[in-house]
This record gives sequence, structure tokens and C-alpha cells, in this order.
Amino acid sequence: MSQNNLESSLHEARLFAPPPGFAAQAVPNSAQLAALHAAAAADHVGFWADQARVALHWQRPFTQTLDDSAAPNYRWFADGLLNVSVNCLDVHLAAHGERPAIVFEPESGEPRALSYRQLHTQVCRAANALRSLGIGRGDRVVIYMPLVPEAIIAMHACARIGAIHSVVFGGFSALSLRDRIIDAGARLLITADGGHRGGHIVELKAAADKALAEHTPIEQVIVLRQTGHDVPMQAGRDLWWHELLAAQPDSCPPEWVDAEHPLFLLYTSGSTGKPKGIQHSSAGYLLGAKLSTQWVFDLKPADVFWCTADVGWITGHSYVAYGPLANAGTIVLYEGGPTYPDAGRFWRIIERHRVSIFYTAPTAIRALMKFGDDVPKQYDLSSLRLLGSVGEPINPEAWMWYRSVIGGDRCPIVDTWWQTETGAILISPVPGVTATKPGSCTQPLPGIAADIVDDDGNAVTRADAGGYLVVRKPWPSMLRTIWNDNERYLETYWARFQNRYYVAGDSAHRDADGYYWIMGRIDDVLNVAGHRLGTMEIESALVAHPRVAEAAVVGKPHEIKGEAVFAYVVCLGERPEGDVQAFIDELRHWVGEQLGAIAKPDEIRFADNLPKTRSGKIMRRLLRTIARGEDITQDISTLENPAIVEQLRGKSSS
Ligand code: WTA
Repeated sequence: MSQNNLESSLHEARLFAPPPGFAAQAVPNSAQLAALHAAAAADHVGFWADQARVALHWQRPFTQTLDDSAAPNYRWFADGLLNVSVNCLDVHLAAHGERPAIVFEPESGEPRALSYRQLHTQVCRAANALRSLGIGRGDRVVIYMPLVPEAIIAMHACARIGAIHSVVFGGFSALSLRDRIIDAGARLLITADGGHRGGHIVELKAAADKALAEHTPIEQVIVLRQTGHDVPMQAGRDLWWHELLAAQPDSCPPEWVDAEHPLFLLYTSGSTGKPKGIQHSSAGYLLGAKLSTQWVFDLKPADVFWCTADVGWITGHSYVAYGPLANAGTIVLYEGGPTYPDAGRFWRIIERHRVSIFYTAPTAIRALMKFGDDVPKQYDLSSLRLLGSVGEPINPEAWMWYRSVIGGDRCPIVDTWWQTETGAILISPVPGVTATKPGSCTQPLPGIAADIVDDDGNAVTRADAGGYLVVRKPWPSMLRTIWNDNERYLETYWARFQNRYYVAGDSAHRDADGYYWIMGRIDDVLNVAGHRLGTMEIESALVAHPRVAEAAVVGKPHEIKGEAVFAYVVCLGERPEGDVQAFIDELRHWVGEQLGAIAKPDEIRFADNLPKTRSGKIMRRLLRTIARGEDITQDISTLENPAIVEQLRGKSSS
């Protein structure tokens, strides 16, 4: 990576101090935040030990804080014993039992609420149901469900009995589900007849059946009746959720697990074709989710917190299923599409449930912005006091719109940087303290030793010079490994700088005030609508088509989605010419079948060949330049087949 390429081009001068009213009530306030930073700087490990003792309920306290004997496979609080579901539910029953834990808004129909007591009962029943099927400590359970309360109940039921959940986003295809089931070695699948999205039914059970059509380790399938449409049930394998839970007792003794016991696996895209099963711990993960919810969202018992993420993504784990519940907050859950039945849906939900903290992705903000200011202006958004953004860099224009039109110029915005791997937000404003700049995620949270380094691993000190975003010291909520592939863990996150720092895979720069600006990925990972997609995954899917010989996928900036998927395809035999639209549609559909609709290429261009170096490497940087319609400035003298460039530059075929 060359320094010059990363030179910052953004020059954002606007600065927004926290509104005095917000700052006055915020926890942490500036003195408290300064004390946290000072404590972490003085004794990194001791700081986290203190936090873990206070924030978590331990069945048996830990005596060792950080075990770095097998670094970079770090272990935190390893001899402590706890249960994550107890920490999110049981501990609140006495003081908050009758307060709403979940307010659920279905796509159509009336909302319903679940108090902490009701949620606890449902989790206990589900946990007993899993135990009745012989599921216990360490067993993997795949959850493939719509965004409904039962998805959260299923996650907590696993946590309660020490089973390891792996949630697969309901938008993923049968084949993606199947790959994840096999990689995780899951014995149980929890799914639903279907889900609701934009007025349609998402056929989850049909996809699950397809995923299980050939042998997998799955023994049983629990099916939630959500849509009520007819689905076939396979005798001996499939069980209805409601029938199974009806027979279960309302209480369930928790399984006390070691701090390091895996709480979940979550598959995410990397730069090779195979998704990585990111493995998180119990205690360290929960500590990160709980504390970051307090620090970044200032969550108080009176708040109504709405994070729009699906539980199929890490954001839906840390800021829907775990962080807010660990803090006794009330969460809003909405199953359906953001513009169903009209573009006012999100704003109507905020008005109806008096949402006070709203956390969403830039892609959603940009999409809703397109409908104009008049839509949100029809709703009473005065309950909002804080806004958040996650998943990709937010462009200053969307940031300003979010602030003025949605936040009424009175709500701070927290632009939160983190990853599936980091478990919790690492770099973000603390809303009562940090003055914000549109487009910057500002500064690391207490106990997070983030930095930016150059190719040689030296800290970049010159303002606005770019480099690798790294974390210099372990932190409790970091991933522990990649499931079944520790080599890949070491290689992906640590090898670049000889195990000295965690390498996030993002490039970033820091301005003269020490504020971080994320510039994008440095590996072959695309960020489409806030979701990570590996270019290799899409290429493998394309090449699996009988007519495709070779494919190269690159990202192209997209006004709403952040990045669009642009595919160059080389076919077996002749290059398709003339009316190729039907074939393009077929390939898009094919990729959708293999990976899920989000991975469908936005544009496909056919070529006789791909530009390669003499050593046979595809010149992706060149392909990116061509996809963006930019002038080619890079040196193409090493190209094996220079004539191909003209053909690739030909008009897009889609
Ligand atoms: C990107 C999502 C800029 C980044 C929580 C990261 C961001 C990847 C931001 C992780 C942000 C996330 N500003 N970029 N505030 N937040 N990213 O694993 O490239 O789905 O590496 O986790 O999203 O995506 P993931």
C-alpha cells in the first residue's frame, strides 16, 4: 500500500459541540471520560479488570485478567464463571421485571411488547426445549429467522444452556446457509415458515429444506410459525416452535460457563472465497457490548433504543440482542422493509414508540434522504435525543441531513467504527463529551489502543497521512479465533506486522485534532449497503456457472449503497454479444441463488480475457479504474495482454 494513495482528500472543517442539555445529563460526562482514559492509560489490564468486576455478574469471580501466553490467541478473565443470558435478563427481574425489554413492530399488524419477565420466561422455555432435544454446552445451533422476538429468544436460549449460536441472515441463500451449517458442525437449526419483507414472504423454510437436502450435521429443525403459510414439515426432523415450547417449564437453571466459552460464531466475508466463522467469547464479548452501549449511546432506563440492524449481522448481536438488554434498556424490533408500505415507515415507528436513540446505517440514511425532507417532516420526531451511524463511512452530506432533518439540530450523532471481529464499537464519539465532525468516527474509546501505521508498522504521525488501522493492545471483546481455522486467524489479522498489532483491514488517517477518518478496506472486501462481501465469494459463485470461465469482481462507488458490485466475466467459448440482457439476468439470478440477493452484481461486463500481469495476477486496480470510468494512470506495461484494456473499456453491458 503506498502512502500517496492514502493521502486524505477530505477537508471537513465543521465542528459540532455536544448540546449543553445533552452534556449535562450524559454518562460519562467529560470528567468521567477523562478518568476512564487516564485509568486505561495507566494500567490497561487493570482497567479492564475493574470494569469487568463492576459491569458483569460473576458466578465465580476471575483471578487472572489477561492470559497472553498463547498470543495473539488472547484469553480474558479465563477462570471466571458466568452466564450471558443471566447477565441480560435474570439480573434485571427484581428492579425492571415489568418494564418492556422488546417492543416488536411487525411489518403489518399491531405491535406487541415483551416485559423483561415475559422475555425471561420465553427464554427459559426455549432453553428447556433445546435441552429436551439433547442440545447442551458447546453444541452449535444455527438460527435462520426473520427479525422477530423469537430470534432473540433463540439466541438467549442458546446462551442460557451454553450452546453456541450462529445466526445466518435470513437474506442469505440456501447454499450459503448450508455452507455455514457444515462449517459450524451444527446439530440443530432454528428457522421459521417465513418472514415478511416489503409486502412479500421470505421463504425461509423452503430455503432451509434446500440447504438440508443433502447430508449435513443437522439432526433436528425447530420451525417458528410466523407467516402462517403452508410449509411441509419433515416427520422426525421438523418440530413446531409453539408445540415444543408449550410443554416446557417457565424456569431453567443456567449453565455456568467459563469466561472464554464461545458465545457465538458469526460468519463474515474475507478476501478468499470461504466465509470466516468469527468466534466470540462469553465474558469479554458481553463486557464490550455492555460498556460500549453505555459509553456511546448513553443508554438510560427511560430510553427507547432502536438499532435497525438484523440479528444476522454483528450490529444486531451487540446492539440489539446483548448490549441494550445487559443495560436493562427497551429495544424496538421491526421485522419489515424500511419503505413499506411507504417511505415514512421508519419515522412513523420512531413517532409511535417514542424512540429516543436511533442507530442505523449510512445506506439507509441515503436511501431515505432521496424521498425528500417532506416525508420525515410529517412525523413527530421530538422523542429522539441521539442518532448513530455504522457500517461504512458516512458522507458529510448524509451526516448533515441526518443531523438537521431527523435530529432537528438537537441530537448528537455518533459515527461508530467497529467490525464483526471487534465485537463492540472501538472508535466513536462519546456523545456528551466529543465535538463531532461530519464523516469522522472521532476517537478511540477508553481501553482501546487504536493507531494508524505505515507499511513498516511505524506510527503515522503526520496529520492527514493515511495508513493501516491497527489496535496495539488486546481488548476483551476481540474475536478469539476463526472457527476451525486458527491459521487463517493468525494470517488475516496478525501476520502483516508479526503479531504486534491487530490489523483491521481498513485504511484510515488522523487529522490535526487526532480524529480518525476511515477511508475504506485495504483487502478485497466490498462494503455494499453496509454489508461485507468478499469479491472472491462472488467470483467463485460466477465461475460455478456452467458458461463462465473466469470472473473478476470489483467495487464501484454507488450513491446509495456505498459500493456497487461490478463483475467482469469471461465465458467459455465465444464472448456473448448483441442482446446479452437475458444472460446477464441469468447470471445475476445465479449469484443470488448461490449467495443471496445482496451479492448480485449490479453490472456485468463480458470480456475475452482479464487483464493479467505476466505472473498471472489479475490487475484489480486496473479493473477498478475501468469500472469507475476513470482515466488509466497506472503502469500497464507489465500487462500480458495490453489489447484487452480497450475491450474492457467498452460500453457497459448492463
Ligand atoms: C466498515 C459492522 C467507516 C469498515 C459493524 C469495517 C465503517 C467494516 C464504519 C466492518 C464506520 C464499519 N465508518 N467504515 N463508522 N463501521 N465500517 O464486520 O470497513 O459488518 O472494517 O461490522 O465496515 O463490517 P462488519
